[in-house]
Amino acid sequence: MTPALSLVILIVLLAAFGTALVGSLRAAPWLPTRTKDVERLLSMAELREGEMLFDLGSGDGRLIAAAARKPGISAIGYEISLVPWIWSQLRLRGSRLSNARVRYQDFFRADFSQADVIVCFLTPWAMKKLKPKILREMKPGSRLVSYTFSLPEIKATRIDRPHSDDIPIFLYRR
Ligand SMILES: C[S@@+](CC[C@H](N)C(=O)[O-])C[C@H]1O[C@@H](n2cnc3c(N)ncnc32)[C@H](O)[C@@H]1O
Repeated sequence: MTPALSLVILIVLLAAFGTALVGSLRAAPWLPTRTKDVERLLSMAELREGEMLFDLGSGDGRLIAAAARKPGISAIGYEISLVPWIWSQLRLRGSRLSNARVRYQDFFRADFSQADVIVCFLTPWAMKKLKPKILREMKPGSRLVSYTFSLPEIKATRIDRPHSDDIPIFLYRR
């Protein structure tokens, strides 16, 4: 292996692990929503034609791709870890979904007022950090759907957990 190739591989690995670490420290490590739960989560959002969905930390893009396949729905994912971001770009291009995008951006810097529905799968401490921004920016009538973790000290509009071994999904309506 030439020194130049070794250097390129080193830079790629540093970028992959470094950005994964940043994501884990900012809000949550990359762990995908279980395939069997994707539709359960989206049905909680009660998506209507013409609506815009955000996924905060969109991972491999499975949720935004599934949302964008529904009639009249646009989806934007925010992701700061390089490997899932690249993976999601490939997924969207492969499926020719022009109404879905993934931004390489920290979602704490996104403008939530543009979203009709926000979905997330984060951590308890990230939900606590996110709460003031949700309350400040989400517009009336919009919905937050959170996989696994609830918003602290706010009563969920609905909690879906069909069986005790299912992961809970929390719906909050603004
Ligand atoms: C538990 S995963 C959920 C992935 C996806 N939403 C799903 O349900 O399959 C959380 C994702 O959030 C990303 N993440 C963490 N903090 C972030 C931030 N501040 N901005 C954007 N993405 C972030 C992580 O890199 C990770 O991919």
